[in-house]
Amino acid sequence: MHTTKERIEALKKSRNAVILAHYYVPDEVQELADYVGDSFYLAKVAQQTQADSIVFCGVHFMGESAKILNPEKRVFLPDPSADCPMAHMAAEEQIGKLRAECGDLAVVCYINSTARLKSLSDVCVTSSNAVKIVKSLPQKNILFIPDQNLGSFVAAAAPEKTFYYSGGYCPVHAFLLADDVAREKRAHASALVLTHPECTREVRALSDYVGSTAGIISYAEKSDAEEFIVCTEPGVLYELKKRCPKKKFYPVSIVCGDMKKITPERVAETLEKECGEVFLDGSLARKAYAPLARMLELG
Ligand code: 13P
Ligand code: SF4
Repeated sequence: MHTTKERIEALKKSRNAVILAHYYVPDEVQELADYVGDSFYLAKVAQQTQADSIVFCGVHFMGESAKILNPEKRVFLPDPSADCPMAHMAAEEQIGKLRAECGDLAVVCYINSTARLKSLSDVCVTSSNAVKIVKSLPQKNILFIPDQNLGSFVAAAAPEKTFYYSGGYCPVHAFLLADDVAREKRAHASALVLTHPECTREVRALSDYVGSTAGIISYAEKSDAEEFIVCTEPGVLYELKKRCPKKKFYPVSIVCGDMKKITPERVAETLEKECGEVFLDGSLARKAYAPLARMLELG
């Protein structure tokens, strides 16, 4: 009788597959993955892999992006129902209307978005490259979709641009309250606050560092501080504790239920039955490729 881990190892070899996982999936899935990282890192790995198949342990837009970047490879999602609600939070009509009304406009699309929204955009970004990419664009006007919180974080760093928003938000990060962070700060006076830019302006204002999941992990690793209040999905604690076993981390508890749908058993089943494959309409995939490729080039 083989363990789930042994089954996955054997199937991975026979399928010439690679397993990618985001920092928010359960610890036991991160443990069995070949590559674990933030959205930008995983997009780069997906683009460069020599494997025939990619099993993407994350939410739907992640598998979709991997397929867009790699149309000739097979991409599988262990649970295709794991979806990011924010990925849908922009209206196509607003994009068309602003393009018609506003000259000198760039539509900047967070990678947490549907293929359809990407296909209507000029460039994609992730939380680790959004400031750099937006500042490098020649356009003065920016329509930032779908995340208004990441958008306002970028806007603060790019005051030379005029920003428009679609009003989307991550229900996990946007409902993390400044009061909860303030309470943790009172309980752990010497702890630094590390925050994801999907959090609100009020929470970001209480923070010592704001950045992507990979940015948060690397900041904690390099810092001389010994205690940290972590304002993002608590899945990052697995890597934080691995890299900094002596430091203390206090998550302000918020869980992404969709990311937690991924289990080792589902990964094994996906490899065994080749189920949960991502298929995309060819012309949509080609249109969505350009903004993603531009992100990889500029990021
Ligand atoms: P990053 O890992 O790129 O910071 O993204 C966070 C996130 O919300 C992914 O869904
Ligand atoms: Fe989407 Fe938020 Fe979950 Fe990330 S944490 S997948 S942005 S709902």
